[in-house]
Amino acid sequence: IEQTLSIIKPDAVERNLDNEIKEIFKNKGFIILKEKKIQIEKSEAEKFYKVHETKPFYNDLCDYLSSGPIVVMVLQKENAILENRKLMGATNPIDAEEGTIRKKYGISIDKNSVHGSDSSENAQIEIDFFFKD
Ligand code: CDP
Ligand code: MG
Repeated sequence: IEQTLSIIKPDAVERNLDNEIKEIFKNKGFIILKEKKIQIEKSEAEKFYKVHETKPFYNDLCDYLSSGPIVVMVLQKENAILENRKLMGATNPIDAEEGTIRKKYGISIDKNSVHGSDSSENAQIEIDFFFKD
């Protein structure tokens, strides 16, 4: 049993898709252990996405993640990290498979509706980032 960090990004929350997306996770057997709807500062987005700091899209990405409310969740399931990545689909919604969240809701490579941790190490770091008290 693993835990992973999921974020419903501003483009999806803005379209009131957060409940619909949460239902998809639950229907696929994920348990939502923790969740909160928040808006973060750009400086926090920069810290969260630090791994991408040398990428050309880094500044826009951090502006975007801090541009409106997001829903952050700890999801639990067997193989949660990989299962969530599969359910999300490819980074660019154009490349995402039928039945994935990004295929269904993603608008563009930047406004792709959801984030999911990509490894167990990063899952722990990202869960602590949002939920360490
Ligand atoms: O989110 P994912 O792990 O699938 O992709 P990533 O390569 O870790 O990139 C993080 C986020 O940066 C993506 O989800 C996109 O929102 C954004 N991105 C972008 O705006 N332009 C790119 N060329 C690549 C990624
Ligand atoms: Mg990533």
